[in-house]
Amino acid sequence: MMENNNLIDTVDKTRLPKHIAIIMDGNGRWAQQRGEQRVFGHNNGVQSVRETAEAAAELGVKYLTLYAFSTENWNRPKDEVDALMHLLVVTINNEIKTLNDNNIRLRVIGNIQCMDPQVKKELAEAMEKTAGNTRMDLFLALSYSGRWEIVDAIRKIAQQVKDGTLSPGQINEKLVSASMNAPDLPDPELLIRTSGEYRTSNFLMWQTAYTELFFSSKLWPDFRKEDLYEAIIDFQHRERRFGKTSEQIINCKG
Ligand code: FPP
Repeated sequence: MMENNNLIDTVDKTRLPKHIAIIMDGNGRWAQQRGEQRVFGHNNGVQSVRETAEAAAELGVKYLTLYAFSTENWNRPKDEVDALMHLLVVTINNEIKTLNDNNIRLRVIGNIQCMDPQVKKELAEAMEKTAGNTRMDLFLALSYSGRWEIVDAIRKIAQQVKDGTLSPGQINEKLVSASMNAPDLPDPELLIRTSGEYRTSNFLMWQTAYTELFFSSKLWPDFRKEDLYEAIIDFQHRERRFGKTSEQIINCKG
């Protein structure tokens, strides 16, 4: 308990990342270590989602994006996909009240058309019921991959060129960013991946060009508030240069 208090006190609340993105990995291994089916890990991962969202909102983080289901996850055994869809339906439904109590707005990025109709229904309802919340936007990336999102953006831009409303010379980074799934979502300053894997696995490819990466050895169902604090503290000790030299940074800051 003492340890928790100390860690949260060490977070500099004036220099928080505005947007944190998380690759929640290791549910399957967590279950296997306990001799259980993979879905047992996903079920236990829900508590980590709750704690992380609550901790981020309490600190004052404005956007939290969780990689909940990747395009590649469709290739998992049908039983596991069905169990994940069921878990999403139940969890989204159960959490609407907590989201509202915490003033958190639920949003989605990804190829939602592909989702199970029941998931789509629950999501639409949860998004509508939390639409007025302003403390933090909680984005779920569902049926999502970074390359898919970039292809989707290219398609939208190509259509405008075809329609004659845009010339190729007008295509720039700003327009590409604005053609992403959630144009108002700022690039994440911090990306966390759990389970000791050192990859970004097709998550927010366009948006993470300058993102600081934090790799936690914890498996996702073990990830708790203090693990989020640890990642933020680590981030706050880094110098973000965006291609400038150290001297320029120091000079600019006076
Ligand atoms: C990765 O672990 C995790 C997932 C593919 C699913 C994440 C889902 C949850 C945490 C539960 C529901 C979430 C919400 C937002 C309600 P893995 O299965 O790849 O683990 P492994 O690498 O050990 O096999």
